[in-house]
Amino acid sequence: MTLSKTPENIRSLFNEIAGKYDFMNNLISFGLHKSIKEKSVKLLDLKPHSKVLDACCGTGDIIEIIKKIQPLAEVTGLDFSGKMLEIAGKRIENINFIQSDVTKLDFPDNNFDFVTMAFGLRNIQNPEKALNEVYRVLKPGGEFLHLDFGKKNFLSGIFDLEVPFMAKLFYGNKIPYEYLIKSKKNFPEPDELIEDFEKCGFKFKTKKDFAGSAISAQVMKK
Ligand SMILES: C[S@@+](CC[C@H](N)C(=O)[O-])C[C@H]1O[C@@H](n2cnc3c(N)ncnc32)[C@H](O)[C@@H]1O
Repeated sequence: MTLSKTPENIRSLFNEIAGKYDFMNNLISFGLHKSIKEKSVKLLDLKPHSKVLDACCGTGDIIEIIKKIQPLAEVTGLDFSGKMLEIAGKRIENINFIQSDVTKLDFPDNNFDFVTMAFGLRNIQNPEKALNEVYRVLKPGGEFLHLDFGKKNFLSGIFDLEVPFMAKLFYGNKIPYEYLIKSKKNFPEPDELIEDFEKCGFKFKTKKDFAGSAISAQVMKK
């Protein structure tokens, strides 16, 4: 599939799949994605009143986990898909949701203790611009948690075969999910990604692999 990653294309893709996004995530990850997300968020030392930005928040999985771990955290959810945010807003109350592009953040410098981004960077046409913005809005000493697909190994290959099949069967249209596989194949592996983060000024703190390294979380410090 040759969907180009313009913001317009990506926004309309997520607007289109929003209604079935959570159902499909549970299906294609065999229910594993929630526990992986929770273990990743636990890499952060969230304190009461920590200011957190969940960038590319989608339907709000990461925010829900942050609030479960640290109910007093002050969380902002940001995404440019109105439909994904609509679902997040119905699921989680009392959160500041902002519809905006992560490559052009309307926050002052040094504003957040933590920025989280799960399965978002892969979809961004200019990831460097997004990373520079994340770096800018983090406080000195603040941490960036990034979670996405990891090593392109045997397990990851099985996922690539399984997903379009499941999508055709349960979603009725495999095209958005063929895009997912393509974006995953073109995405750097974790070690290369960490180098990219370092080029933007971040310092490596820790990383954790899941599902036989097919999924990986990295924590980077400003
Ligand atoms: C695969 S979903 C991940 C959602 C959520 N973080 C999760 O883990 O379930 C990717 C999300 O990134 C959002 N997104 C992609 N590019 C974006 C951008 N440039 N600015 C803001 N949101 C973006 C999409 O709208 C979509 O909701």
